[in-house]
Amino acid sequence: MTDRAFMKSFGGLILALVALTVILFIIAQIVGGKESKSVEATADAKTIAERIKPVGEVTVATAASGSPVMAAIIPSANAAGGGDKGKKIYDTTCVVCHGAGVADAPKLGDKAAWAPRLKAGMDAVYANAIKGKGAMPPKGTYQGPDADVKAAVDYMVSGVK
Ligand code: HEC
Repeated sequence: MTDRAFMKSFGGLILALVALTVILFIIAQIVGGKESKSVEATADAKTIAERIKPVGEVTVATAASGSPVMAAIIPSANAAGGGDKGKKIYDTTCVVCHGAGVADAPKLGDKAAWAPRLKAGMDAVYANAIKGKGAMPPKGTYQGPDADVKAAVDYMVSGVK
């Protein structure tokens, strides 16, 4: 083998090895690089999601799904929805006497005042509210159906039953 021929084949071998190295490097980049990149990407997405969670999700999503705060608000909202009419009538008509206990009117939330009356049964209490009793005027002067007065009674006694 001449020097020239040696150099030619040796150079070719070097070139082949360089090419192989480059190819392996590229493959390594594609296989390994891609993987580490995607792991990084998910980690980033997770981190970002966690970081924006208190801002974006906690306030909005938990409000919808029932946080303690909403749990505290919703039942009272529901209760107000159910007894809304009774409360309205109480607040506009009955409170005049039953708020402060005028002429010994049993006060809202006064268990001791309501207990003996409730003992007679709700029918009797409704009847007294509708027909009047002593200083309690019929329907408490409310101008509307008996059912509304009953709703107001229900609202008044709901806290003392
Ligand atoms: C003018 C004052 C006054 C107003 C207004 C009034 N009440 Fe009364 N109410 C009284 C008084 C006084 C009593 C106590 C009567 C008694 O026991 O002698 C009473 C008693 C009651 C009782 C107890 C009845 C029982 O069985 O002993 C109910 C129920 C009641 N009121 C409901 C209402 C409702 C509902 C309204 C509003 C729609 C209303 N009252 C408005 C003065 C009032």
